[in-house]
Amino acid sequence: MNQLAPPACQPQATKQVIQNLSKPAPPCTLVIFGGAGDLTKRLLIPSIYNLAAAGLLPENFAIIGVARADKNDESFRADLTEEIKSFATAKVDDDIWQNLVSRIYYLRGNFDERPTFDALKLRLDEVEQKHNTGKSRLYYFATGAEYFPKIADLLGKADMVKQEQDVWRRVIVEKPFGTDLESAESLNRALLAVLEENQIYRIDHYLGKETVQNILVFRFANGLFEPLWNNKYVDHVQITVAESVGVENRGNYYDKSGALRDMVPNHLFQLLTMTAMEPPSSFQADAVRGEKAKVLEAIHPLTDDEVRMQAVRGQYDKGAIKGKEIPEYRNSPKVNPESNTETYMAMKLMVDNWRWAGVPFYLRTGKCLPKKRSEIVIQFKKAPFSLFRGEDVGALESNKLVLHIQPEEGIALEFGAKIPGPKVMLSGVQMLFNYHDYFGQSSSTGYETLIYDCMIGDATLFQRADNSELGWKVVDPILKLWQREKPNFPNYTAGSNGPAAADELLARDGRAWRAID
Ligand SMILES: NC(=O)c1ccc[n+]([C@@H]2O[C@H](COP(=O)([O-])OP(=O)(O)OC[C@H]3O[C@@H](n4cnc5c(N)ncnc54)[C@H](OP(=O)(O)O)[C@@H]3O)[C@@H](O)[C@H]2O)c1
Repeated sequence: MNQLAPPACQPQATKQVIQNLSKPAPPCTLVIFGGAGDLTKRLLIPSIYNLAAAGLLPENFAIIGVARADKNDESFRADLTEEIKSFATAKVDDDIWQNLVSRIYYLRGNFDERPTFDALKLRLDEVEQKHNTGKSRLYYFATGAEYFPKIADLLGKADMVKQEQDVWRRVIVEKPFGTDLESAESLNRALLAVLEENQIYRIDHYLGKETVQNILVFRFANGLFEPLWNNKYVDHVQITVAESVGVENRGNYYDKSGALRDMVPNHLFQLLTMTAMEPPSSFQADAVRGEKAKVLEAIHPLTDDEVRMQAVRGQYDKGAIKGKEIPEYRNSPKVNPESNTETYMAMKLMVDNWRWAGVPFYLRTGKCLPKKRSEIVIQFKKAPFSLFRGEDVGALESNKLVLHIQPEEGIALEFGAKIPGPKVMLSGVQMLFNYHDYFGQSSSTGYETLIYDCMIGDATLFQRADNSELGWKVVDPILKLWQREKPNFPNYTAGSNGPAAADELLARDGRAWRAID
């Protein structure tokens, strides 16, 4: 497909978007439960460093990491100083880092035990006084989901979540928010027994991505596209989150989870709801989250027969990606050799409302696909009448609007154009907006905006309890049927576009997936 070159005179904004976030967050202390873990070193500390470098952290700020590992303030700081060298997203400025790391503390303790919370309370008193951070706190649950209810419960029992005038206490909860509808409801009950909904920030780091946030700007800040954004003009929508990697060393977690639980109720449904939602009355958190909830409510729960017809699962067999041999999923570390866990899933959903009646949304995600690629394709209906009938012009493609989320970040509009020459010949061409060309390379992890938003009390990009439960409600019938009926795995080769049944799902509707390679 031809591609228009970016115009030579386009604006080159070198400033990072994150720097446009305006003023520093208010004074507070960040407590990371799971401070010695992978998420903290790989994403949280680098994000907080980026916020510091962008001048968005308050002067009066401190961090306390809590975990069982045998560390103290000095060794914790020394470890983070080593780790930031590998995980920072841009060159680390020594002055900024030293200023930040000198405000980081470590508390050794077990989340299961009340004395840890009593010790934390004392430590917080000291640190808050020393850094004059006030009493506002952000508790980050950077640990396995099985600990979330316990940590919340003990925080409550230790009287550490009460808010007062100018003193906020907020909690960031990492996904997964449950493993099915029942556990999601139970997690919400446990959190809400101790916290108000407005204190709970359920994070999906996908929403920290500029291109995901841009879906709303693209739709609602431009007058051009919204009139076409409905069943009158849209034929169908495809949402793809493809990974080229296999299960790697996450077998322990992934074999219990699978592609459906791991990706659909969070990442894919975020993309779906942002694509399908009605314009909110404002960009206040509850207005946006309310509209997203309505989309999920409009998806009717699938019957068993509909699951069999509309959902496809797959597991990869050995194969090769870019010349590299990939072993079969069942032969991966910490995976059951007879595992029936899906590493691929595709589904067709109908959003039963006025705007989308009759427009299928096809979703797919999987591992060991040919390329890492997340994108939303809005495929428009064909032109109502072919003026070129009788001419040898080839089949006319439908117009497509492609929102590229990752790794490319941008928006492409695909349409037909005449090939120069005396004969009427058509070709598909593409008009492309590439984020990096206009705004420079982003050096953020995706967590910066979200952590900053939580500090300033903006919950727009976080899931509300009902958003999470409504997502599980859609997924639950599929999970249940897949548990009852045994699959015939493996059924796709690593490096292919996925199982044949996924192609048949669209072929039955006279449609085809956009190729991933
Ligand atoms: N890693 C990522 O890239 C990533 C990305 C997105 C989301 N997440 C989510 O983030 C959460 C954390 O993941 P992770 O990869 O960082 O896990 P991890 O490396 O296993 O870290 C868990 C942390 O919790 C501590 N911990 C565990 N049990 C404890 C207990 N009973 N008492 C005190 N400390 C305890 C561990 O340290 P000790 O063993 O020393 O106590 C460690 O610091 C998970 O919910 C995960 O799904 C992770």
